[in-house]
Amino acid sequence: MVNLVNTIASLRSKRILLTGDTGFKGSWLALWLAEAGAEVYGYALPPLREEDHFNLLGLRNRIDHFDGDIRDRDQLRRFFQQAQPEFVFHLGAQALVRESYQNPKATFDTNIGGSVNLLECVRETPSVKTLIYVTSDKCYRNREWIWGYRENDELGGRDPYSASKAAAEIVFSAYGDSFFASRPNFGYASVRAGNVIGGGDWSSDRIIPDCFRSIYHNKPIVLRHPKSTRPWQYVLEPLSGYLTLAGALTENPKQFSGAWNFGPHGEANRTVKELAQAMIDLWGSGQINVAQQDSDWHEAGLLHLNCDKSHHQLGWRPRWNFERTATETVDWYRAFLEGQSITQKSIEQIQRYTETIYD
Ligand SMILES: NC(=O)c1ccc[n+]([C@@H]2O[C@H](COP(=O)([O-])OP(=O)(O)OC[C@H]3O[C@@H](n4cnc5c(N)ncnc54)[C@H](O)[C@@H]3O)[C@@H](O)[C@H]2O)c1
Repeated sequence: MVNLVNTIASLRSKRILLTGDTGFKGSWLALWLAEAGAEVYGYALPPLREEDHFNLLGLRNRIDHFDGDIRDRDQLRRFFQQAQPEFVFHLGAQALVRESYQNPKATFDTNIGGSVNLLECVRETPSVKTLIYVTSDKCYRNREWIWGYRENDELGGRDPYSASKAAAEIVFSAYGDSFFASRPNFGYASVRAGNVIGGGDWSSDRIIPDCFRSIYHNKPIVLRHPKSTRPWQYVLEPLSGYLTLAGALTENPKQFSGAWNFGPHGEANRTVKELAQAMIDLWGSGQINVAQQDSDWHEAGLLHLNCDKSHHQLGWRPRWNFERTATETVDWYRAFLEGQSITQKSIEQIQRYTETIYD
């Protein structure tokens, strides 16, 4: 079984390239890797807002970041040539379902075309030994059933975002079979995680940022799909899965290459309304009403993952239950709204997370 603490220690001084480091998950991963003493190279579009986690952490001064577009293959290639990474984490994507309805072509271009460019760069760069390729739990054909999806379940997607992630999986599989399987000492995995929450997310149309924007302005939280059930997990959970898997791929590339789910235990499957209520209760204001708004776009109602493979083969487990996840989320946003140091808060959370023994 691979140990997270040992894996993180082993990344010291390693050259690691990640796409999407200006985003929610990518900024946390970049911080975690920088704290571990890795040489971090980030490639992404510039952060969208002043309050983005990337900016609050001062990552531009801490890692080697380049403002680039993954749809630009030549630029991405030049970045790979300069970085000569040993590890690649691909998180860059158009990550929002609603945005994908508004801009389907841009979503497909980024999530499929951009991913092809990334895979081409990996193919052309012999220094790369380990690839973690992030897709989504939404890559599975959603049957609205009560069982968790397994890694070998059918792929599919009704909305453009989900379809783009399913397509990115098929592309990954083709590169694996055609080019990567025969590459010596090379480990490659696609990773599928559920709905990720936590500090540092300001995306539009996501439940947690919507909650804190509303709480801050003392306005009702508007829920698009209050009854939709999601496997909520703290942002550090899937990232710990990616890191553990990267360690495992380094030790045994053949055994660990493939697809992996990283989701919370069943107790964290809650409705959107229950999550919003937990935020309000923990915040303690009691003044927020949960309003409901009909949405014209279809979104999956019921969706969660079966993570038996990562539990049994990788020894990975979620560390924070729903209550802890909600508490840490509120803790982070409270620190932000009170003007505390976000670098310190985020590092503290990484330390607390790493020290937690599995529930
Ligand atoms: N947050 C979640 O709940 C969740 C759930 C499942 C999967 N994911 C996946 O995890 C990954 C990271 O998600 P996130 O929540 O951090 O998203 P995010 O929107 O916060 O960040 C996306 C990142 O990708 C970059 N990006 C977007 N288009 C780009 C382009 N054309 N060229 C270069 N960079 C580009 C952005 O600049 C940003 O750095 C994505 O692949 C997403 O689909 C996220």
